[in-house]
Amino acid sequence: MATFTLPKNSKITGKSKTHASETGGKVKKFKVYRYDPDSGENPRYDTFEIDLDACGPMVLDAIIKMKNEMDPTLTFRRSCREGICGSCAMNINGKNGLACTTAIEDCGSGEVRITPLPHMDVIKDLVPDFTHFYAQYASIRPWLQTVTPTPSGKERLQSPEERGKLDGLYECILCACCSTACPSYWWNSDKFLGPAILLQAYRWLADSRDEMTGERLDELEDPFRLYRCHTIMNCANVCPKGLSPAKAIAEIKKMEAERLV
Ligand code: SF4
Ligand code: SF4
Ligand code: FES
Repeated sequence: MATFTLPKNSKITGKSKTHASETGGKVKKFKVYRYDPDSGENPRYDTFEIDLDACGPMVLDAIIKMKNEMDPTLTFRRSCREGICGSCAMNINGKNGLACTTAIEDCGSGEVRITPLPHMDVIKDLVPDFTHFYAQYASIRPWLQTVTPTPSGKERLQSPEERGKLDGLYECILCACCSTACPSYWWNSDKFLGPAILLQAYRWLADSRDEMTGERLDELEDPFRLYRCHTIMNCANVCPKGLSPAKAIAEIKKMEAERLV
């Protein structure tokens, strides 16, 4: 039977703090994961009481309020505040999503629990380490690759139908909500590329202008890199952009199979 030994300081046993609302109003409690590896202390959950009458409507508004008004050490990523940059991806009440596009009123009537994306190393509080994820992204060479020279002064054109094949792919913001919700990625992320990177890989396979299709398929044809996907579909269930990495993965598998015929 498998046994797991948690790393030192990984258990949530740190002393939690409660940050009370000073304005009263319509108070909602947020339980937020806190971890600072430099402190040598175990992670903990802190409770923040947020006056919803004095807060914007989104979970990110509440988190910004916590940092601005209650605890400036609270650490998280965010940039665009409109679901475009992907940096505020986190786990909210057990589901991966973007804090900036998740409405507080959709989080249920009880306490809201916020943790970093699962199964990634945590740098601090709600900030996961994306180093490996980005290295995997770089490995699929996510740019247009051609061998025929572009005629001078001309663009590489696509028909509307060819361009349409990129719909459902180009919108990916690389937030990693899907990959960190995928059980196959949890257990094999050292070798399995995971749904986000495979969707990106298919984005270039589906591009009529790219001329490296064979090489790209050679790279992906591997029991781990591609075939660790078992169509569990968690990825499609959590994508905040409504994309289906599972479908993109199925298309890659189909292209691989068609090469053998
Ligand atoms: S469909 Fe594949 S990639 Fe998506 S969650 Fe399931 S195993 Fe992971
Ligand atoms: S497919 Fe969706 S969940 Fe996955 S990285 Fe792209 S936008 Fe995020
Ligand atoms: S802040 Fe950019 S996606 Fe949320």
